[in-house]
Amino acid sequence: MSGHEEESANCPGIEASVPFGRHSAGELGSAVGIDRRAARARGAGPLRYARRPSSGGDSALSKLKILVTGGAGFIGSHLAEALVGRGHRVRVLDDLSAGRRANLRAVRDDVDFMRGNCADLETARRAARGMDVVYHEAAVPSVARSVADPVLSHRANATATLTMLVAARDRGVRRFIYAGSSSVYGDARQLPKREDMEPRPLSPYAVGKLVGEHYLRIFHGLYGLETLTLRYFNVYGPRQNAASPYSGVISLFVTSLLAGKRPVIYGDGQQSRDFTYVEDVVQANVRALTARGLAGQHVNVATGHRVTLRQLLETLGREIGVPARAESRPSRAGDIRHSLADISAAHRLLGYRPKVDFETGLRRTLEWYRGGRKSGARR
Ligand code: UD1
Repeated sequence: MSGHEEESANCPGIEASVPFGRHSAGELGSAVGIDRRAARARGAGPLRYARRPSSGGDSALSKLKILVTGGAGFIGSHLAEALVGRGHRVRVLDDLSAGRRANLRAVRDDVDFMRGNCADLETARRAARGMDVVYHEAAVPSVARSVADPVLSHRANATATLTMLVAARDRGVRRFIYAGSSSVYGDARQLPKREDMEPRPLSPYAVGKLVGEHYLRIFHGLYGLETLTLRYFNVYGPRQNAASPYSGVISLFVTSLLAGKRPVIYGDGQQSRDFTYVEDVVQANVRALTARGLAGQHVNVATGHRVTLRQLLETLGREIGVPARAESRPSRAGDIRHSLADISAAHRLLGYRPKVDFETGLRRTLEWYRGGRKSGARR
């Protein structure tokens, strides 16, 4: 009997809804080059940190206790809303360094909010207490900022991820789903980027995100935690914070153009990205809650299409009705050139299909930033 089977036997209520661990061979194992047998040989024995037995039955399944770190932020708040909408009990841990309580307005009464930093073990343990699942979305997500301040980036990304994993292990959390990043592919020339390609990170941010992935994988092997990394590709949409020069390019372009200013293009503008609407990222995360056979793995979450920055600017100029002119600056250190995902693994293993095409996503995003300007809300 594998450690996972013992774990399942301890958790009858969760077993039926969250049966990751039963698939000890891991369908994706060979596709992504992770040797699960080696993990077992290293001593992935019976689960030492099993979750409390649950009462079982359908009502238990529909009411998982879920921690979303970074849950007041851009992606985390959309995810928290979706989980509440599905009947789960959601706790949010956020230090509000980038997130905002207002992002959780719609679920204010349904979410247990904790202010704190994920890199602090006591805080992480308090937040993970009693939880079935952790979604670790908290991060300082900027490549450029990590080049300027590698230590801050490492702490907020690698250290915070390790700390949350330890807390999850100690509290008997069953499943840990992590916001990974396509930046880990770095300058790999081949497009599209597949999960079995060797990572070649170019920035401290990408290294930190990759370190997090490795920790997830070994925490699965060592402690039986059902971990999964979702490698996000350039997420955009409502609530993306445009307040910093390190913010995501779509949020910066939109807010500049709406304010009648020229956005900045670093480099020649021919670099491309697989821009993914936040609702599709939420879809992948929700699917990951009940997916089977993926523990210890990593999966791309994207659209499978790419757009250059010039094309992005032209589309926005057309939509807003302003000239698509930008200020040119030298390219940023640590920047990758092209990013495009192979999303067949996400489709095959999670049943994921992107639903929001680029034009629709941009229009919705634009509407949100426009609404903010009219109402004077901070964006
Ligand atoms: C983004 C995410 C990162 C994620 C990664 C992989 C942000 C802030 N970063 O990194 O968390 O892990 O995708 O999916 O969302 N650019 C300009 N002008 C600007 C800003 C940026 O030309 O004003 C350029 C950048 O130099 C880069 C491209 O636009 O070439 C995208 O930059 P950015 O939005 O910061 O995203 P990534 O670096 O790709």
